[in-house]
Amino acid sequence: MITVSVLKADVGGYVGHSSLHPDLLSTAEEALSQAKQRSVLVDFHVGHCGDDLFLIMTHERGANHTEIHALAWDVFIACTAVAKKLKLYGAGQDLLADAFSGNLRGMGPGSAEMEFEERASEPLLIFLADKTSAGSFNLPLYKMFADPFNTAGLVIAETLHGGFTFEVQDIVGQRKIKFDAPEETYDLLIFLGSPSHFAVKAVYSRKTGEIAAVSSTERLSYIAGRYVGKDDPTCVVRCQGDFPAVGEVLEPFTFPAIVEGWMRGSHQGPWMPCAVADANPSRFDGPPRIVCLGFQLTEGRLIGPRDMFADPAFDGARRQANDMADYLRRHGPFEPHRLPLEDMEYTTMPEIAGRVASRWKPLE
Ligand code: F6R
Ligand code: MG
Ligand code: MG
Repeated sequence: MITVSVLKADVGGYVGHSSLHPDLLSTAEEALSQAKQRSVLVDFHVGHCGDDLFLIMTHERGANHTEIHALAWDVFIACTAVAKKLKLYGAGQDLLADAFSGNLRGMGPGSAEMEFEERASEPLLIFLADKTSAGSFNLPLYKMFADPFNTAGLVIAETLHGGFTFEVQDIVGQRKIKFDAPEETYDLLIFLGSPSHFAVKAVYSRKTGEIAAVSSTERLSYIAGRYVGKDDPTCVVRCQGDFPAVGEVLEPFTFPAIVEGWMRGSHQGPWMPCAVADANPSRFDGPPRIVCLGFQLTEGRLIGPRDMFADPAFDGARRQANDMADYLRRHGPFEPHRLPLEDMEYTTMPEIAGRVASRWKPLE
């Protein structure tokens, strides 16, 4: 069995929250290459989207393994030290605990991990996002694994025709539930349509029970009880054979869906698919970005990545996302561009409400 672990954190931005300094990438690469030499890891790739650092690792220790989580924690700490030295912005911002305590869960970083038997050929797509939240993958995962207008294989491929099981987490209530598609899609959608409360954690093939996809569902604000930055999720999807084809997994991103995040984590904006070189959100700290790294997994080695959105076929989505960004920005501080009061990560409301409280008069 091989495990793919994507562990991620924002440990400092360059410049502001727009991107990642190359010294952080090289610090992480050096530490993971030592772990590979010690045979803790089979292989790794260090990626970034905006100001978030993503450690993509393969190993044989299983999901949620202390040694792998400790390794990632040490990398984030080492990168934080570099960020502090360079006075990068928000150094260590996602590291909410003072010391590692066995597992990254609840400590700030996000995680998406899956363990499986490597197939004869194992194409993997790994999505990295910035300026948005856990839950933003609900719509694309639904399209990939349950929408026949997106995934032709659900209709015309015997291997996919049996459908998929969605594991949904209630992020607020801290519980989970499974739904089978296609029979239970209407039940499933009442939850998925509310991505700030419910997020798809994993998807399984109903034909084989094999894991097909996993995403990070951590919400920093729930962990810390206060605003500490956006969660900027990741998602891993196995492709081909019993799973959707690479092109079916990428197809949902031709539609730049509106997601929560953008400036101060308090706005709605279009999720723009882009090449790694373009994943440096600078316009109103956005708009939200998504990149996709494609790998062939070969005896645990990550052959790649291919930069999957570096394809002119996604130019239309990018153009539409920019038009949507212009349109939404013209709302300024008004909803629905700005999030409703209760969902904003930044707010001045308690202070202002307190200050003007005595000036309110009853209606005549
Ligand atoms: C959103 C984000 C940025 C910051 C904004 C203010 O996820 O990271 O939009 O919220 O730049 O940042 P601070 O409060 O750190 O000055
Ligand atoms: Mg940041
Ligand atoms: Mg970020």
